[in-house]
Amino acid sequence: MKIAPSLLACDFANLNREIKKVTDGEADYIHLDVMDGNFVPNITFGAPVIKSIRKCTGLPFDVHLMIDNPKRYIEDFVKAGADIITIHVEAENDIIGTLKKIKSYGVKTGISVKPNTKIEDIYPFLLDIDLVLVMTVEPGFGGQKFIFSMMEKIETLKKELKIQKLNPLIEVDGGIDEETVKIAANFGVDICVAGTSIFGKEDIFKAIKQLKGNT
Ligand code: DX5
Ligand code: ZN
Repeated sequence: MKIAPSLLACDFANLNREIKKVTDGEADYIHLDVMDGNFVPNITFGAPVIKSIRKCTGLPFDVHLMIDNPKRYIEDFVKAGADIITIHVEAENDIIGTLKKIKSYGVKTGISVKPNTKIEDIYPFLLDIDLVLVMTVEPGFGGQKFIFSMMEKIETLKKELKIQKLNPLIEVDGGIDEETVKIAANFGVDICVAGTSIFGKEDIFKAIKQLKGNT
């Protein structure tokens, strides 16, 4: 299992140190939750912060945009150093245009679904994406409980991917801990995002190792 620590749960007064800890802890990505207070009822950080922490690690930046009109900001996030940019299917009308814009910069594309959105809603975009992010909590906040029924979406998606002979990465986000990571692994998830269960621990190295080792 690849692990993408979400900085949302880290100590923002010590961003550099926190990023170094997960880098030394052999995380696979850094997951960056961008929220605008409109698409989700919370505000976090934007491209300037991402740009300034780019120098703290060589790990790929997995940028999760929980914002309305993401198309307007793609260039900013590319320039900030994003390696994967994931948009929400619920957030944008011109999804194809937005994905093509991300691709045009040589950055990987992702599409995400909230818990109440049907997985079928992303089918028209499967040809244009490198990653599918299935939310296992309602986006907006860390520390919520993993919604097990979202695994049905993974099953449905896997069947469709087989038919279409496509192989995007499958990522889940929300409520991942030592137990739920095993569930995700059983359903064939490639990447687990984890905030609280990494940064909430005294020993970050051990926390990441445990998440990886449990799968
Ligand atoms: C929620 C964010 C998640 C969040 C996960 O909207 O997308 O990435 O940080 O936090 P935990 O791991 O605490 O559920
Ligand atoms: Zn996220």
